[in-house]
Amino acid sequence: MNRTLGVCYYPEHWPETQWAEDAARMAKLGLTHVRIGEFAWSRLEPKRGCYDFDWLARAIDTLHAAGLKVVLGTPTATPPKWLVDEMPDMLPVGADGAVRKFGSRRHYDFSHDGYLEESKRITLALAKVFGQHPGIAAWQTDNEYDCHNTTLSYSPVARRGFQAWLQRKYQSPDALNRAWGNVFWSMEIADFGEIELPNLTVTEANPSHVMDYRRYASDMVVRFNKAQADIIRAHSPGRDVIHNFMGRTMAFDHFDVGADLDISSWDSYPLGFLEDRSDQGDAWKRQFVRAGDPDFQAFHHDLYRATSKGRWWVMEQQPGPVNWAPHNPAPRDGMVRLWSWEAFAHGAETVSYFRWRQAPFAQEQMHAGLLRPDSTEAEGFEEAAQVTAELRKLDTELDAQPGKADVAIIFDYPSAWAWEIQPQGQEFDYFRLVFDFYRGLRRLGLSVDFVSASPPDLEGYGLVVIPGLFTWTAGLIEAIRAHDGPVLIGPRSGSKTPDFAIPEGLPPALPDVVLQVRVARIETLRADTPIALSGGGTLQFWREFLETGPDTEVLLTAEDGVPALVRQDNIHYLGGWPDQDLLRSIILSLVDSVGMITKDLPDGIRLRRHGSHVFALNYGATNFDLASLGWTGTPLLGELVLKPSGVAIMQVSSAGH
Ligand code: GAL
Repeated sequence: MNRTLGVCYYPEHWPETQWAEDAARMAKLGLTHVRIGEFAWSRLEPKRGCYDFDWLARAIDTLHAAGLKVVLGTPTATPPKWLVDEMPDMLPVGADGAVRKFGSRRHYDFSHDGYLEESKRITLALAKVFGQHPGIAAWQTDNEYDCHNTTLSYSPVARRGFQAWLQRKYQSPDALNRAWGNVFWSMEIADFGEIELPNLTVTEANPSHVMDYRRYASDMVVRFNKAQADIIRAHSPGRDVIHNFMGRTMAFDHFDVGADLDISSWDSYPLGFLEDRSDQGDAWKRQFVRAGDPDFQAFHHDLYRATSKGRWWVMEQQPGPVNWAPHNPAPRDGMVRLWSWEAFAHGAETVSYFRWRQAPFAQEQMHAGLLRPDSTEAEGFEEAAQVTAELRKLDTELDAQPGKADVAIIFDYPSAWAWEIQPQGQEFDYFRLVFDFYRGLRRLGLSVDFVSASPPDLEGYGLVVIPGLFTWTAGLIEAIRAHDGPVLIGPRSGSKTPDFAIPEGLPPALPDVVLQVRVARIETLRADTPIALSGGGTLQFWREFLETGPDTEVLLTAEDGVPALVRQDNIHYLGGWPDQDLLRSIILSLVDSVGMITKDLPDGIRLRRHGSHVFALNYGATNFDLASLGWTGTPLLGELVLKPSGVAIMQVSSAGH
């Protein structure tokens, strides 16, 4: 089968006498993969050098004997107490200067060389023992880098590491002073040893300083992950190296980490994310309280697929109520199934539920599993069973790969850091901006791929969208010039140099042959004072005053006469943050020009093209007739009248695409 299901399991939480029965039930349910081990360090090495891998070997044997493929996690997200006591300076320090203590998880500093060595040591020990075990199919490095905001640490070791990183980058203090503009407020330094970390300053630190610190911190995550990946590859040939990313996590560059992975995966908790990580107002949250935001999961599926060049999984899929959001409702019936199918619609190889059995003890005792704490089946179990049955019938009918999407959005983690450092208006958040464009495209039924800014690969896309790009990367300007179809740039794209200064000649800093536009000034707006455009729609939060050259045509103008959307050949520049109405009309005019088919979708209905099929998903609470979109005939899965939580799959031709 191309598409499979799995589950996260913690043998160390349960008596050994239970393992065989658990494994048999997993296999009977139709699961093929089981992830284990990622928090088990205190059981694997109770004292320095006293390894106890026997229980893990028995657990792997038991799971393997039941026909399950094991994904073994390295346990480095939870260093044990004895290790922390040996080197207490491995603990991370918050921006408030306080040490983040032992007693939960992710209590380590990525900059700590001693901890890096420890993480390599335990990874090597595990890889040597289990690397060739026939039951081991893949490895997971650590667990959710940056979860609980753990990329940034303001410790003495981070400071020393940062100083060395800066020395390598700038070579001389003078070069750093120039690049950062340290003459401002007498911030000049004479020696790299004088550099501080950018926290606890009286008022804001220099944005160039913070930006370099963010780059450094991201590099430390990459270094940590690569060290484990290299060891696993050397000792466990043929097994995939995977990491499980989290939702709306911008603190490190996932493309850089993904370069060292075979498979990117992520942990999808739709209801937790709606409550905890959405910018939408209460009405929207109420509407989707038991379904999740109709674009949030898809956004991450598409983003993380791009970070490892196509191969991706959901490593943890919400199976019922979670324990960590402000409110933790139960999913509407059918949503666990829908979320699973949605991942496959976006090209996932495996969807793995978190977790097998709800733990009756410790921090996550209120978090559902596929089983209740008493081992009876919870609601998610039945829905997982339905997906396995459906996959058995349908898997071979579906293409292995989703294929190229209609639209490419350039996604760039440094841009997220830049606008977090200098939002200029409180709503300006890179994720939020890109998410708005993503939603606008999806509301028109378009499928989206994310593409890294470096190097960009725009081959084969109808439309290319570049919102809020911090600075032009090598090759991107050439790539958009070479692109045949429309390109939509802005707002704020190209508005800084890599050193975090305003470019000479003013943003968006494109050569005149590409676009004769200058952003003369910008303003940010209160949420309740948007700028109306003459033809309808508004600019919100952020607005630019554009000056155009002779080769630039003004397409849309604000009511005060300032150009809002301009064009030179196929390159379009949007001087503000569009609301959904404006976005809709802009996208429609661009995609119509290249003959792309759009569909007007209600809030809760989403489509995703997958090879020669189109998936339709109903996040909404009412029936929706797909015939109204031009679908005809009998879907491969589901019905034309899509019920709440319904999924339908149709051949592209019968779905009117
Ligand atoms: C994830 C994490 C799991 C578990 C889960 C609960 O972020 O990887 O270990 O804590 O959340 O929803």
